[in-house]
Amino acid sequence: MRILSGIQPSGVLHIGNYFGMMRPAIALQSEGEAFYFIADYHALTSVRDPTTLRENIHRVALDFLACGLDPERAALFRQSDVAQVTELAWILSTVTPMGLLERSHSYKDKLARGMLPSVGLFNYPVLMAADILIYDSDIVPVGKDQKQHIEITRDLAVKMNETFGQIFKLPEPRIHTATEVVPGIDGQKMSKSYGNNIDIFGDEREMRKRVTSIVTDSIPVEAPKDPSRSTIFQLYSLFASKNEIAEMRERFQKGGTGYGDFKKQLFEKLWGYFAPMRKRREEILADKSYIDNVLARGARRADKIANQVMQRVRNAVGLR
Ligand code: ADP
Ligand code: TRP
Repeated sequence: MRILSGIQPSGVLHIGNYFGMMRPAIALQSEGEAFYFIADYHALTSVRDPTTLRENIHRVALDFLACGLDPERAALFRQSDVAQVTELAWILSTVTPMGLLERSHSYKDKLARGMLPSVGLFNYPVLMAADILIYDSDIVPVGKDQKQHIEITRDLAVKMNETFGQIFKLPEPRIHTATEVVPGIDGQKMSKSYGNNIDIFGDEREMRKRVTSIVTDSIPVEAPKDPSRSTIFQLYSLFASKNEIAEMRERFQKGGTGYGDFKKQLFEKLWGYFAPMRKRREEILADKSYIDNVLARGARRADKIANQVMQRVRNAVGLR
């Protein structure tokens, strides 16, 4: 079984990224052949500063490794180190109906947030389909917002197979229902573009400040509170044990505890949860060539498979 996923180096990683994509991807690395990449070609649709892009790529690699990605099992690589993927994206784009991309939620959301409608942004799902198909991927762990992109990928694979004969496998999304949408400090989906994120490796003061800023209602301290409507409780449930969750639920329902106290409890849990990863991160940082070596090794493994699949594609469409 081949597992593949990617993440854009378009900013600092937050706990929505962690629970939606990174943790599931890390958990799957022992269940098959895993390929995880840093989607730098995709990030060009929003990052226009080369220094920032380079720093972000390095940082995503660092954070992913610190969170438990094991480069002995999973290949971690830069998307652009396997440049054949852009060739496949072109070939796929020749069978892609405009209407399929016009229906993309992610494209419409990005325009609504003020991004300029470039051809690259419009074509984003085609490059993503190429990412997935070029590695003969079986399983793609992602957050719920990427589901439609996997559906588009399957549509394009079917279209290619119908037109040119059996070339591609049909990949399946793997979406964790318990963590499909991690809320941000305002209760909306956590996203760096909404500015409501809690970062995985923010410093202590920053993380405490973010947790303290979680939006709550104005129910007084003494009164019972509804845990299911509380972002504090939802976030705490991601980190705490069953017993700890049950205990917090009871204290919500009983009344007598203010949101400030619950926030403190959430912060302690969060800070403690990522402590071993912060330590690992320092170790990786101390080894100057570690990340470059990991990425180079990952790229070699990925390149080998991509070359094989591209031979198949070129033969099938008549380019060879
Ligand atoms: P952002 O919304 O902050 O820009 P990305 O779109 O780069 O995040 O998402 C990277 C990965 O993390 C994707 O697989 C996405 O589904 C997942 N993800 C992002 N935010 C969340 C969230 N709030 N809950 C669950 N998964 C998320
Ligand atoms: N679009 C994904 C995101 O924004 C990143 C991505 C690019 C990806 N190519 C992929 C994810 C291939 C999974 C598979 O998060």
